[in-house]
Amino acid sequence: MATALIILAAGMGTRMNSEMPKVLHQIAGAPMLIHAMKSGASLEPDRTVIVAGHGAEAVGKAAQGWDARAEVVLQAEQLGTGHGVAQARSALADFAGDAIVLYGDTPFIRPETLTAMAAARQFHDVVVLGFDAADPGRYGRLVTAGDTLEKIVEFKEAADEERAISLCNSGVVAADAATLFELVALVKNDNAAGEYYLTDIVEIARARGLSATVVRCDEAETMGINSRAELAVAEGAFQSARRAEVLADGVTLQAPETVYFAHDTVIGRDAVIEPNVVFGPGVTIESGATIRAFSHLEGCHVSRDAVVGPYARLRPGTELADGVKIGNFVEVKNAQIAEGAKVNHLSYIGDATVGAATNIGAGTITCNYDGVFKHRTDIGARVFVGSNTMLVAPVKLGDDSMTASGSVITRDVPAEAMALSRTPQETRQGLAKRMFEKLNSKKAKAAKGA
Ligand code: UD1
Ligand code: CA
Repeated sequence: MATALIILAAGMGTRMNSEMPKVLHQIAGAPMLIHAMKSGASLEPDRTVIVAGHGAEAVGKAAQGWDARAEVVLQAEQLGTGHGVAQARSALADFAGDAIVLYGDTPFIRPETLTAMAAARQFHDVVVLGFDAADPGRYGRLVTAGDTLEKIVEFKEAADEERAISLCNSGVVAADAATLFELVALVKNDNAAGEYYLTDIVEIARARGLSATVVRCDEAETMGINSRAELAVAEGAFQSARRAEVLADGVTLQAPETVYFAHDTVIGRDAVIEPNVVFGPGVTIESGATIRAFSHLEGCHVSRDAVVGPYARLRPGTELADGVKIGNFVEVKNAQIAEGAKVNHLSYIGDATVGAATNIGAGTITCNYDGVFKHRTDIGARVFVGSNTMLVAPVKLGDDSMTASGSVITRDVPAEAMALSRTPQETRQGLAKRMFEKLNSKKAKAAKGA
C-alpha cells in the first residue's frame, strides 16, 4: 500500500516565546519536526508533505535537509488542523494510497504504533491514534461504542459527560488519501474556536456509513511540545529512553544520567562511555572504543579500541582509525587519524591527515587558518612530532620524519628527515645565581623602606 505522510507544522507556537518556528526547536540535536519525520519514515512513505506556515522557508529547508524528497505546502493562515490537511490536497492530487497525518510538534510516536495503525486500516476507513490520559486536560475526547469510534469532541465543545472520558485524541489520523480530502472538505468552522477541526472528519465519516476505530498508544508517545518547559521535559524523556536502549545494546555507561546523546548517535557493543560525555549529531562509535569523561563529540567516527579523552573535543569530519589515542585537552576537526596514532596532550589538529603510528607531541598545533583560507597539514606514518610544534599549513611531513620540539614548521619535511626551527640555545654560567641575588636584595631594600 502506497503511503503519504502529511505533517502539520504551520503553527506559530506562541508559548515557545521564540523568533524561531516551534517545530525547529531541537530535541537531541534535531528539530522536533525531524523527529516526527523519522518516526513517519518507518512506514517507508512514498510521499511526505509538510504543511508549513510560520517560518515556512526555514521549516521547508530543515525538512528537505533531512529528506530531499519532502514537499512543502504553505498554509498562509492557520485556520485549524482540518484546514491544514486540506492544504496538502493539490500536492497529493496524483497520489493513490493511504495518508497519515502527523504533527510536527509531536516527536515521539513510535514506529510500532504507526505500523499498528496501518494494520488497522485494513479493517476500518478512518483510524485515529488515541491514548488514555492520566490528566485529559484540554485534549479532544474520543467517543467510542465498542471498537467503533463515533466522533471526536474537542474539549471546548465537550459536554460534562464527554469531558469525563479519559480516552484522548493524539492527533494522528490514517485514512485513504482521497477519502481524507473529501472528508476534510466537508468540515465547517462553526464551533467555539471558529476553526476547521480535523477531528470533525470522524463524525462526518460515520454519518456517511464509513467505519472508524481507535488504535491506542502510550501517553508518553503523544507528548506535544508547546513551551520551553515542555521542550526540556521532552529532551529529558528522549535522553532517558536512549540511555536505556544504549545500555541494553551492550554499551557500558558508568553514569548514564550524565551522558547526552543526539538523535542519531550510534554506539557499538562493548564501548565504554565514562561520565559527562556529550554527543552532538552525526557520531558513530565502534565496538570496544572508550570515551573518557568530559569529552564532547560531534560529526565524527571513532573506530574499534580507540580511546578518546578525558576532556577531548572531536569536531565534524574527525575520523579515528583503530586504536587511535586522543588525550586530554585535544581538539580534532576535519582530520583523519590513522591506526595507532597518538595525540595525547593539549593539541589542535584541524584539516589534517595523520599517518599510522605517528606520535603528536604535547602542545602541537596545526595552524590551518591564515585569517581568510583554511589549509591542510599532511603528516605521514611513524612520524615523531616534537612537543609544541607549530605546523603552518599548507605543509607536509614525510613518513618517518621528526620535528624538534618548539619548532615552527613552514616548509615540507621529506621522509626520514628531521626539521629544527628554533633559535639556538645560549647558556651563561652563573647568571641565574647573580640574577637571584640582585632581585632578592632589591626586594629586601624595598621591604625596609616601607
Ligand atoms: C489537537 C486536536 C485535539 C488533540 C490535540 C493533541 C484538533 C481540532 N484538535 O488540538 O483533539 O487532542 O491536538 O495534541 O485537531 N496546525 C497547523 N495548522 C493549523 C492548526 C494547527 O499546522 O491551522 C498544527 C500546529 O502547528 C500543531 C498541530 O497542528 O503542530 C496541532 O494543532 P494545535 O492547535 O496545537 O491543536 P490542539 O488544539 O492541541
Ligand atoms: Ca497542541
